[in-house]
Amino acid sequence: MTTNTTGLILSQIAQTSTEAAAIASAKLRGYGRKNDADQAAVDAMRRVFQTAPFCGKVVIGEGEIDEAPMLYIGEELGAGGLRADIAVDPLEGTKLCASDAPNAMTVVALALEGGLLHAPDMYMDKLAIGPGYPAGLIDLDLSPTENVMRLAKAKGVPVSAIRACLLDRPRHAHIIEELRSAGAGIRLIPDGDVAGVFWTTEFARSGVDIYFGSGGAPEGVLAAAAIRCAGGQMQARLMPENEQEEARARAMGRDVHAKLTLDDMVPGDVVFAASGVTHGSMFEGVHFEHGHAHVETLVWDSFSKRKSRVRSIWPEL
Ligand code: FBP
Repeated sequence: MTTNTTGLILSQIAQTSTEAAAIASAKLRGYGRKNDADQAAVDAMRRVFQTAPFCGKVVIGEGEIDEAPMLYIGEELGAGGLRADIAVDPLEGTKLCASDAPNAMTVVALALEGGLLHAPDMYMDKLAIGPGYPAGLIDLDLSPTENVMRLAKAKGVPVSAIRACLLDRPRHAHIIEELRSAGAGIRLIPDGDVAGVFWTTEFARSGVDIYFGSGGAPEGVLAAAAIRCAGGQMQARLMPENEQEEARARAMGRDVHAKLTLDDMVPGDVVFAASGVTHGSMFEGVHFEHGHAHVETLVWDSFSKRKSRVRSIWPEL
């Protein structure tokens, strides 16, 4: 099978799965039932994977088998074909969906077997920029000030023209304070750091240059898939909060203190797909009209270097 064919098959599966999940969860927008909306996305996504032409194995999923009945880590899905790793966040921004707030979306990354880091479910420190900058420009071991100064210099703008994005959390107060002192602009988001990271890849649309701060490690690997496709830069580090988390990370073969590069998280080609659930800066949310669901999806395929933004119309099931 050629590389392009692999990308095509995985792109189709990824797009169909994020669209099905987006339509299912969009029906539960705004009802304050985040777990129900998440479950609807999980069920819809799993139905697609079950009959898809591949042998997929979930490496980033809804948790371990005992805590997640579906799309659990290690679950094997598919109707047969090429062997692939599956990373899912069936509903990224469950609270955003429950309150019909902007930027809830469904996310999938697919790679050939061994192509995605198996990340334990814990916090991860993340730093990312979009494409077009010299390699090694940003570094997690540098201060936020140094990173924005380097970025501003490379972009040829003053630091005040640089916009950083972070989750609005008390644990980020020191980074926010430091970035404000340096003069950078900041966009604080209530949830959804996969979007926060991949916004850096589309500055013209999002207005975000650089992503800082900690969030879920599974979301980190998914975001790394987007950065890999876009040709941007990303570094990360696991942040175990207790001995059990450290032990879990070690059991998965992770060096808990290591700085993870993009190659560590996504060593080879990958397909990244995301569909809008609620309206947001990157996507129109799903809308239902005359018995049909309209959904917008971004599909990036690093196998063929193809990037598409698609609007699909599905019969409303
Ligand atoms: P959910 O969709 O699972 O609710 O996650 C939303 C999210 O904001 C992620 O995007 C982010 O990685 C994580 O939660 C941050 O966790 P916390 O809310 O504990 O800071």
